[in-house]
Amino acid sequence: MDPNKVIDGKAFAAGLTQRIGDAVAEFTAAGHPQPGLAVVLVGEDPASQVYVRNKIRTTTEAGMRSIEYKLDVSTSQDELMALIEKLNQDDEVDGILVQLPLPKQIDGDAVINAIDPEKDVDGFHVINVGRLSIGLDSLIPCTPYGCIMLLEDHFGDLSGKSAVVVGRSNIVGKPMAQLLLSRNCTVTVAHSRTANLQDVCRQADIVVAAVGRPEMIDGDWIKEGAVVIDVGINRVPAPERGEGKFRLTGDVDYESAGAKASAITPVPGGVGPMTIACLLRNTMVAAARRRGVEVPSSIG
Ligand code: GUN
Repeated sequence: MDPNKVIDGKAFAAGLTQRIGDAVAEFTAAGHPQPGLAVVLVGEDPASQVYVRNKIRTTTEAGMRSIEYKLDVSTSQDELMALIEKLNQDDEVDGILVQLPLPKQIDGDAVINAIDPEKDVDGFHVINVGRLSIGLDSLIPCTPYGCIMLLEDHFGDLSGKSAVVVGRSNIVGKPMAQLLLSRNCTVTVAHSRTANLQDVCRQADIVVAAVGRPEMIDGDWIKEGAVVIDVGINRVPAPERGEGKFRLTGDVDYESAGAKASAITPVPGGVGPMTIACLLRNTMVAAARRRGVEVPSSIG
């Protein structure tokens, strides 16, 4: 892979985290309480445990307070709702994140919509989803916002670009489409039932892959010179590394797509670090708005 083509999300996220840390220092120096993020993990899903550990570590590194709740897999809906209510009332909690997926006895939509929208740092509450869709200020889902930051860093203005988002999830695909539209892209949301998916992708100046299928999108699907953003994080067997070993790979075949693209995000080290940096950003934004302080432009 030509190193000039690689979009270094890890480096961009490190810079953003640094600027967030500076904003936190300025905020507390002005006499405001340290921004606080509550992270709730129910059960022991291994991938969720890794994500939550990383979120907590970076929160503390940026000078924020991290409050962690690890609940048993058998936690009831009522118990979880009571915790959300307590966190809503706690003035020192600026952000609330409930890690998904939740165990099956829990109604995830009800839990997310019980979060105070001003503390909904995932941007999943219907109020924030609705505000984003009509172009009002909102807390914006972290992964798509991270992708937009990388795209704007690369292109500057995105106006008039044709963008294809592969995947229609509430967490990534749909908010990604809204954000691209808000930047004046012409947006297609493709998915598993899209006819001629390869041809649809081949039209795009920007391809955002968020399907959760390892290396599904290869170089044949990519227009010469397109920019490829790979949201996928898939664990696949890697026998070449030894018995029982795994490696992480995206939804895009990196080598063949990278040969056609003008720029591409790697996995790991592309979108993943941006998701966490944007969570910190949202926590700082929530803290600033709750205290009536202007959000520093340095954090996007
Ligand atoms: N599970 C996978 N991605 C996410 C995310 O962005 N936020 C939460 N809360 N859970 C997730």
